Order: sequence, then C-alpha cells, then structure tokens
Amino acid sequence: MPEEKSKKSKEMVVTPWEVSGDIDYKKLVKKFGTTLLTEKEIAVMDKYSKGKLHLLLRRGLFFSHRDFDWILKQLEKGEKFALYTGRGPSGHTHLGHLIPWIFTKWLQDIFDVELYFQMTDDEKFLFSQKLTFQETKDYAYENAKDVMAVGFDPKKTHFIFDSQMTPTMYQIAVEVAKRTTFSTARAVFGFTNESNVGMIFYPSIQAMPCFLPSKLKGKNIPILIPAAIDQDPYWRITRDVAPKLGYYKPAAIHCKFFPGLAEGGKMSASEPDSCIFTTDTPNSASKKIMRSYTGGRATVEEQKELGGEPDKCNVYWYEYYLFEPDDKKIEEMKLNCISGKLLCGQCKKSLAEKVKTFVAEHQERRNKFTDEMIDKMIIKE
Ligand code: TYM
Repeated sequence: MPEEKSKKSKEMVVTPWEVSGDIDYKKLVKKFGTTLLTEKEIAVMDKYSKGKLHLLLRRGLFFSHRDFDWILKQLEKGEKFALYTGRGPSGHTHLGHLIPWIFTKWLQDIFDVELYFQMTDDEKFLFSQKLTFQETKDYAYENAKDVMAVGFDPKKTHFIFDSQMTPTMYQIAVEVAKRTTFSTARAVFGFTNESNVGMIFYPSIQAMPCFLPSKLKGKNIPILIPAAIDQDPYWRITRDVAPKLGYYKPAAIHCKFFPGLAEGGKMSASEPDSCIFTTDTPNSASKKIMRSYTGGRATVEEQKELGGEPDKCNVYWYEYYLFEPDDKKIEEMKLNCISGKLLCGQCKKSLAEKVKTFVAEHQERRNKFTDEMIDKMIIKE
C-alpha cells in the first residue's frame, strides 16, 4: 500500500499512490489498456486550436487516452463535454501538478467548457499516516489558489471539496460503491486487510465527479479527464460502472510524469527535494534548478570532448516540455549539448532565470485569491 512499498526497486510501479522504477510508457499503456494518441487526434486538435497546439501535446507529454477520439466525434455532432480533474491536497503544489492543469486550462480556452475540479481532502487524510484532517482541509484551499492562478475562467470552474460534499454528490458515490465489489477494488488498487474501510470506499468518491455534471444538468454530458497516467485505475472502475447507472463512460487524456530535480523519477511531493513548489521563493526555485541533475560529465574538459546526454538531463526536459516553445532553439540546444559546445552551467543558468520568472508570475496571480473567493467557487447545495 501507498506508504509501505519500497521506493528503491527499479521495477516499474505506477499506481495512484506510488510511481517508481524505470517507466516504460509503451508497456504501461499496454498494461493499463489505454490507447496511444495518434496523428489523427492531434490533427483535429490542431484544427480546433487554429494551428496553436499546446507544447505539452505537440511534444508528446500528453501521449495516451481513453475515448478521446469519441469526445472529438461528439463535439463534431454538437455535443459539448465538461472537463474534470483534481488534486489530493497532501501539501503544497509543485510544478508537476501544474502540468495537467496548464493543459486543462488550454482545453477550457479552446472549447469554452465547464471544469469540475475535485479536492480530495478526505483521500489524503485516509491514505496518510501523518496528515490530520485539518491539514488536508487547509491544503485544499491553498492548492485551489494554485489552480486558479493557472488562469481558469472563474465563471466556468466549479470546485468539489470532498469534506464539504453535497447530498447529491454523496448519493452518486453510494450508487457507484454499490456496483463496485471489494474484489475489483482490491485487484485494481491492491487493498489489503490492513487498509482502512475509508480507503476502500474512496474510489467511488473519485468516480463521482464523472457523473455529477450529468446529474446537475439533467442530461448526459460527456466527461474528459486530463491527468497523469497514475490516476487511470480510477477511470477503469468508473467506466465499468457508468453504463450500469445510465451515464456515458468518462474519457481521459493522460500525460507522462514531469521529471523531478534528482536523477530519474518524477517530480513527487513525497520526495520534496525533487520538487519546485509554487510556494518556493523565486530565488530558491532558481537555486534548485542550479543544483538539478543534468547527467553532465565529471569535468568541463570531458563534457567538451565527449558531449552531453540531453535525454538524461532534467534541464533539457524542462525546456522541452514547458519552457522553450521554439522548435529551432530546442533543437539547437540539443545539438550543441551533444557536440560539447553547450555546457551544463550555461543551460542551468538560462533555465533558472525562466523558472524564477515563472514562479514569481504564478505567485502574483495566486496572491489575488483568498479563502473566501475559493469558498464561493465550491459547489454547495
Ligand atoms: P495528486 O494530488 O497526486 O496529483 C494532482 C495531479 O497532478 C498529476 N501529477 C503529475 N503530472 C505530471 N507530472 C508529475 N510529476 C505529476 N505528479 C502528479 C496527477 O496525475 C494529478 O492529475 N487522487 C488524485 C486527486 C484527484 C484527481 C481527480 C486527479 C481526484 N480526482 C481527477 C486527476 C483527475 C490525487 O491525489 O492527485
């Protein structure tokens, strides 16, 4: 279970609570039974975005899906979807969490659709050995400010705070729970006799927002969930239950994991040293980049002679997926690294400046949101 498994093993482990080992995304897609995005879906998105495909899609961080092609087909028929994504408030937000939200905001802009955002303060309390309920409830408000700082349309964005769940939400969760057996939940999530019973009920709560928009609007509404692929096991269960309740199966679009600052592995809150938090001062974020792993050679001379290995370098991947949209510049960076012309110090310095600005600008937007403003965006009955 979440906090019990070893983090040292190299074997690929991807669950909603643990991501470790060397991740082979092709194998993962096979194992999970999802589908790789193809040129076809990307071409449709290119059309909708008027040639301005998001970097995260164009450069392949978003790479897999369930029924995203169906969402696009329904759209052609004039049936609009709603977006659903979320956060388990176990601490402050880091750059990795922002990735699906940045992409979700782009989707909201392009398609002008509603977003339902779940804050699972119950999940993080139930699954943690350390956090109190009050702490996860407080983090939910802090994290919601980060969500809004990404730029979502406040009129079209609705928060679901699990600890403040409405009767309608609870009833949907109960309907899902009744149709999910323990043996399915155990097989999908690995529950054991030591799991508390709250953990076992919890998957129905994460399923609930997939059906909430339909329930609230009184008609079936397609749902698209952008998230990293670790959350997919929830959608597997939800998709099994959906037809039994008369709803559409939720669709999902998955991203790979944004790397952490250390060698290998994702940016993960359980390894704070791997993270740039949105609450870091711009200067400390910049310093973290200066200390980041690049895979560089032992000496400058060696680097010049043998060249670098951009594929192993976090700095390169941060630029590639988020900070350097210019294709020519990123290609130049790669080639100059391989040839030994460009040294790690130079790359780090340039990225550190960008990250410093990114964090400062995010905080400026974040500081505009108060607990009261977030409160007004929480769905209440
Ligand atoms: P949580 O809080 O672990 O993660 C929040 C979102 O961030 C994604 N994520 C990452 N994406 C890219 N790179 C990373 N390094 C990285 N680390 C985390 C997660 O996939 C997630 O999308 N149980 C959920 C909360 C939740 C949820 C949802 C998430 C409830 N409903 C619907 C997504 C969609 C959780 O604990 O997420």
